[in-house]
Amino acid sequence: MAKMKEVGVAVLGFGTVGAGVVDTLAKNGDLLAERLGLRLVLRGVADLDLATDRGVAVDPALLTTDGAGLIARPDVDVVVELIGGTGAAKDLALQALRRGKPVVTANKKLLAEHGEEIHRVAEENQTEILFEASVGGGIPIIKALREGLCANRIESIYGILNGTCNYVLTRMEEAHLPFETVLREAQAAGFAEADPSLDIDGHDTAHKAAVLASLAYGCNVPLAKVRVAGIRGIAAADIAYAADMGYRIKLLALIEGGADGVEVSVQPALVPHHHQLAAVGGVFNAVLVRGDVVGTTLYYGRGAGRAATASAVVADLADAALNLRAGGRRRDLSAVRARAPVVFRDPGEIVARHYLRFSMRDLPGTLAKVATVLGAHRIGIDSVMQKEAAKGAAYVPVIIVTGPAKEREMAAALAEIAALAGVTDRPTVTYRIEDFE
Ligand code: HSE
Repeated sequence: MAKMKEVGVAVLGFGTVGAGVVDTLAKNGDLLAERLGLRLVLRGVADLDLATDRGVAVDPALLTTDGAGLIARPDVDVVVELIGGTGAAKDLALQALRRGKPVVTANKKLLAEHGEEIHRVAEENQTEILFEASVGGGIPIIKALREGLCANRIESIYGILNGTCNYVLTRMEEAHLPFETVLREAQAAGFAEADPSLDIDGHDTAHKAAVLASLAYGCNVPLAKVRVAGIRGIAAADIAYAADMGYRIKLLALIEGGADGVEVSVQPALVPHHHQLAAVGGVFNAVLVRGDVVGTTLYYGRGAGRAATASAVVADLADAALNLRAGGRRRDLSAVRARAPVVFRDPGEIVARHYLRFSMRDLPGTLAKVATVLGAHRIGIDSVMQKEAAKGAAYVPVIIVTGPAKEREMAAALAEIAALAGVTDRPTVTYRIEDFE
């Protein structure tokens, strides 16, 4: 019997995901060979730290500290970059692409910050960069956008793309605990990094949003065009008031495109309790994609972790291997080349309903003053909630859910209210309400 074709794989970075990839290739290598008609063979694993036990069996002869040397080997056909960051990761990914070897990566930061260059080098060298694991971990959202939904104009994408943030928000709501307590708890349990800012301040979600938006709209989405607000310091009170009013706060990646341009933002937003995204709890991720032909589609799963991310990386390896066997790239990456110049929406023109929490002076007529300013800016009021003031308190929380309003009008109204003498004693908390319409 003829020997099955082998495709040589190099793994750069032997961290959690690298170990998961090695594990998956060992565990399901035969199944993959059966499905693909070729065998993915691990030729080497490069990491500067070869001492730490990764909890996975690997032939010591495969381990090396020389990533560049591994990439250059003639029996390496595909390179998996799992180093992270934009230093050695970028350097080695470019080296592989310049040798005409496809690169599989989970590195959203690399794609968001240097995607244009990486895709250009891939194209110049007649090879490809695959990045299913960069967004949504094990959820095949990149394949869905690139292939499954290619008949559609993408109208909108709403994503819960950061498991750390979703875990923190879920736990705050369920246990009625403050942000700092839950963050410390999550760090102790290994659900949050020691330095959590990449996750908590929304940057990880922004990288992922940029990757999704670039696929959806066929353009490079510079990070500078992504408006980012994270969940740091979100108040347990707002989570509770939002719940009273029928909403759950989620950190959302919001991607919308229309005749007036594209919006890409990351922000905590109120999601109606009855909406599917409100039910996505803990470390899970979900992405809702709306296309003009298919309508609404929803994808759910583990957005991080060794096994889920390895599942996506190995799927890309399978794709790259099949493409090599077919004599090159099966599909080009036209999705990331601008079809037309993309216009980004003026943020001031974006229309949404808002949740406002005022700390309002507890005196007759104060609410009327606030309502007058909102009215003058043509901002309607959908609902109002005030609890009785604590004994002796001069200011009380008043929650107002507004009707649809332009962000510019909302900002102007809130500035005017802040300037009114004796009405509020601190900045008003404001969150967008996402009605998914
Ligand atoms: N740190 C990310 C998260 C996973 O918490 O979801 C990697 O993208």
